[in-house]
Amino acid sequence: MEKYVRITGTGSAAPNQVLTNADLEKMVDTSDKWITERSGIKERRIAPPGIVGSDLARDAALKTMEMAGIGPKEIDMIILATVCPDAPLPSTACLLQDKLGATNAAVMDIVAACSGFIYGLSIARSFILTGQMKNVLVIGVELLSRFTNWKDRNTCVLFGDGAGAAIVSPSGKPGGILDTYIKGDGSLAHLLQIPYGGTKVPLTVDNVCHDDRYIRMEGPEVFKAAVKAMGEAASAILERSGLRGEDIDLMIPHQANIRIIEATAKRIKLPMDRVYVNIHKYGNTSAASIPIALDEAVREGRIKSGDKIVLVAFGAGFTWGSALIEW
Ligand code: UT7
Repeated sequence: MEKYVRITGTGSAAPNQVLTNADLEKMVDTSDKWITERSGIKERRIAPPGIVGSDLARDAALKTMEMAGIGPKEIDMIILATVCPDAPLPSTACLLQDKLGATNAAVMDIVAACSGFIYGLSIARSFILTGQMKNVLVIGVELLSRFTNWKDRNTCVLFGDGAGAAIVSPSGKPGGILDTYIKGDGSLAHLLQIPYGGTKVPLTVDNVCHDDRYIRMEGPEVFKAAVKAMGEAASAILERSGLRGEDIDLMIPHQANIRIIEATAKRIKLPMDRVYVNIHKYGNTSAASIPIALDEAVREGRIKSGDKIVLVAFGAGFTWGSALIEW
């Protein structure tokens, strides 16, 4: 049995339609200046009607499989992280499996919001290290535009749609995914949620137009929790491996707010030129944000063989976590 677990391919996909801060100025009482200064976001992608998460996931998966050099039948497992499933039943992973023809794969969705990709990597690594699976496709895909209240300036300027993926496989070569760290705190669930539409408050003819069918967020509370948790996740994984910030070649953080990203980098004493940022182009794409950034960093040549990479995320739940990779 191979002792190591490596990412052998990455891929990403985003809808073509761009929604800029200038467009949002026409929709709600906001400004490009406010959005840029408070969040770092300049534009985000919005999926047109008819496109669903499994479509974006398929596009990202095909690029990932091409880079990894494997076909659909060689995928043993699909772990798809999303809070925006195509439908409540079945899992979006099943719908993706059919679109890919990945007929040999075990399939599951996981719900860990913006930390979903790191949770997925952690699960994939464990299945591979126990010898149960070989090639695992881990995908983060979100269409948060479908759960956004376009009249709420507190949230509608923040989110975007997209998908990012990785193939994770066993390897005899030392390195790869060295460690993962995942945590949660359900006592703070109320600070970031979609209150209606589940079994607690099913949508009915009487409440179907209520704003609680959309994302609700207590921004400043979530901000404080994110700074604390992402700082903790980044430092804990370094501490566990005896590394320091200066040993890290690139940090790829969840892209929710440039100020949270800067605070996380500061916590591990990492200069911003060793932090990957693409929030200005996509906004917050939740579970898709880290794999989209990872894929762009790989394809731009920002990551070289042997580089030490830290992934770090925080999201609704709350959930948070990190991964340490030697590329
Ligand atoms: O994905 C993982 C979880 N999500 C996050 O990590 C996001 C965490 N939160 C944040 O990133 C920030 O809290 C926001 C970007 C959402 C907001 O930034 P903030 O600095 O925390 O602003 P605020 O909510 O405290 O609002 C400051 C002011 C308020 O006006 P008053 O009360 O001071 O008069 C808001 O009403 O800015 C106002 N405001 C806006 N103004 C223009 C809120 N949203 C907007 C807006 N445009 N879009």
